[in-house]
Amino acid sequence: TAIIVDFGGQYNQLIARRVREANVYCEIVPYDKALDRIKVIQPKGIIFTGGPASVNEEGSPDISDEIFKLGIPILAICYGAQLVAKKTGGKVEKAENREYGKTTIDYANSSLFKNISKSNICWMSHTDHIVELPKGFSISASTKNCKIASMENHDMQVYCLQFHPEVEHTVDGFTIIKNFLYEVCHLSPSFTSTSFIDDKVEQIKKLVGDKKVICALSGGVDSSVAAVLVNKAIGSNLTCIFVDHGLLRYKEAEQVEKVFRETFDINLIKIDASQKFYDALKGVTDPERKRKIIGEEFIRIFEEEARKLGNIDYLVQGTIYPDVIESGTKDASVIKSHHNVGGLPEDMKLTLIEPLRELFKDEVRRVGLELGIPEKMIFRHPFPGPGLGIRVLGEVTKEKCDILRLADHIYREELDNFGLTKKIWQAFAILPDIKTVGVMGDERTYSYAIGLRAVTSTDGMTAEFYPMPYDALQKISSRIVNEVKGINRVVYDVTSKPPATIEWE
Ligand code: XMP
Repeated sequence: TAIIVDFGGQYNQLIARRVREANVYCEIVPYDKALDRIKVIQPKGIIFTGGPASVNEEGSPDISDEIFKLGIPILAICYGAQLVAKKTGGKVEKAENREYGKTTIDYANSSLFKNISKSNICWMSHTDHIVELPKGFSISASTKNCKIASMENHDMQVYCLQFHPEVEHTVDGFTIIKNFLYEVCHLSPSFTSTSFIDDKVEQIKKLVGDKKVICALSGGVDSSVAAVLVNKAIGSNLTCIFVDHGLLRYKEAEQVEKVFRETFDINLIKIDASQKFYDALKGVTDPERKRKIIGEEFIRIFEEEARKLGNIDYLVQGTIYPDVIESGTKDASVIKSHHNVGGLPEDMKLTLIEPLRELFKDEVRRVGLELGIPEKMIFRHPFPGPGLGIRVLGEVTKEKCDILRLADHIYREELDNFGLTKKIWQAFAILPDIKTVGVMGDERTYSYAIGLRAVTSTDGMTAEFYPMPYDALQKISSRIVNEVKGINRVVYDVTSKPPATIEWE
């Protein structure tokens, strides 16, 4: 294991991603909690991240000197490097010019720089820099404007980089990170999907024994992978409850049912509750009220089914790592509320099993593929819990949901045909509560307009609209107006987030 000590930098998750790509397990821990955690899990390597503060500011993020006495190798990046310099007797100053972007760098001999070309490109992004070397350290790389682009103290096993090896623009960055993990820390690349699945299966078996477990299956990637993994561990002691709220995509409920029953032989209870949801949503137009109603109705039905099963001890949830990372500084905090099955009654006293808590999304996908879940399910775009309930704008009715379902299906089918699905983070259709005038044959029509949205993003927090090729738009538009009764106009959303959100409600 490696520990990443988070000082609030923007690339912190990227560092963790690189370490995982090197098949080494790692955790991100805020700087003020790091020492405690390190003592508990005794990692073989520690990485300090960058951060927005200046080490010379009062109250800037710090860590106890004890960290140097543990005998664990440290790789310190940017702010982390400056912090090491300051704490070990070097000097950090504000650079005359903020250095930002690709820079030529010359590497000296070091275990860190094994197997890389001696002169190459690195990525710099800093305001402060180290101007005086602490005692015992030597310079191991320089750029034109930054003499101490890298310094190290071999005896202390401390390696400091002013540039960012985690960013792709640093040509040999990944090799540098691997050198730190393998050569300096002697970690082995043993964290793989297979080892993860084997370990989890063992853990869950041991934890659960003969007890009963339930899972709310949504058909989304995370809950599906979690369910299949738990099923692999405890078989029929797991029961999945799948509530069809009538707000799912085209034929989605059937697909999910088929995969889980036929491919995995999982205990599955499928409840068709669509009418209940349509009834509950009748006349409601406010988006937040709709969300609340859908959430509460879902819990009510889930609870009812769970109670019928009798004594249940555990609840499986598909929480993933980005949902649980606590950031080092408030400024960089990326904590998202998750929309899983919170809100179950107290007296049910279910203990959570969250087998994917440690994984990033792409790792979850790899585990899912390895478990045999079909690609089509694994590479699905994210779909919100309230489903079409927040994509049918205004009042939700079955009729409107059916129109949207078909249009959305055609849209996504064509994205597949044009080979665009994997290039887009999320794509879907929206049915605004607007009718417009059109003409068909000799007849005037007065029907709904439909909106198309497609965005690229890494985490949904910010997003860019996708520059959809015209030929794709043309095909999609003509298919939708021809095949979906009730639609006579198609518009494409060209707004990014911010200022717009990804969903329209
Ligand atoms: P927004 O619209 O806020 O969406 O830019 C960001 C991401 O979150 C999804 N989303 C939701 N997911 N329940 C969910 O489970 C919700 O109420 C909800 N609202 C938005 C959205 O699809 C996008 O991926």
